[in-house]
Amino acid sequence: MLEAAAGAVLIEAAHAAAAHAYAPYSRFAVGAALLLDDGAIITGTNLENASYGLSLCAEAGALSAANAAGRLADVVAVGIVGGALSTGGAITGEAAVRPCGRCRQMLTEAAQLGGRDIVVHCASADGRVIERHALSALLPHAFGPDDLA
Ligand code: THU
Repeated sequence: MLEAAAGAVLIEAAHAAAAHAYAPYSRFAVGAALLLDDGAIITGTNLENASYGLSLCAEAGALSAANAAGRLADVVAVGIVGGALSTGGAITGEAAVRPCGRCRQMLTEAAQLGGRDIVVHCASADGRVIERHALSALLPHAFGPDDLA
């Protein structure tokens, strides 16, 4: 129950962050919101580039901000919301957005640093579909800092 309540807050924060996505090429806006162990929330959006392959995901932006705040080890959950950008700038979509493979790996780094699993709340832009996953289920048998110890 507590997890679902935290998820609602994270999804709301991620949705607000998605409004700032810079996604003129894919026209697909994503927002991510990290919940830290003291209740703080750090957000990120996708950041695309005219050199398409350089584009950064919302989760990567949020993790980088958490790291800059010295909080990479403190992430307990993440909310992710995304959808197509309409011409009016609204974000639309009926499917939950799950983190891409690279972002699963980046989240795993934070999880292993903190010695915990991370709860991943994925939501559709219209808010009707919400999934909740353990990061370890989205990226089982992951390679991470524990393997280098
Ligand atoms: N994207 C994210 O921001 N996070 C994901 O987990 C999946 C994909 C972004 C990257 C790109 O700017 C756009 O969505 C379309 O792939």
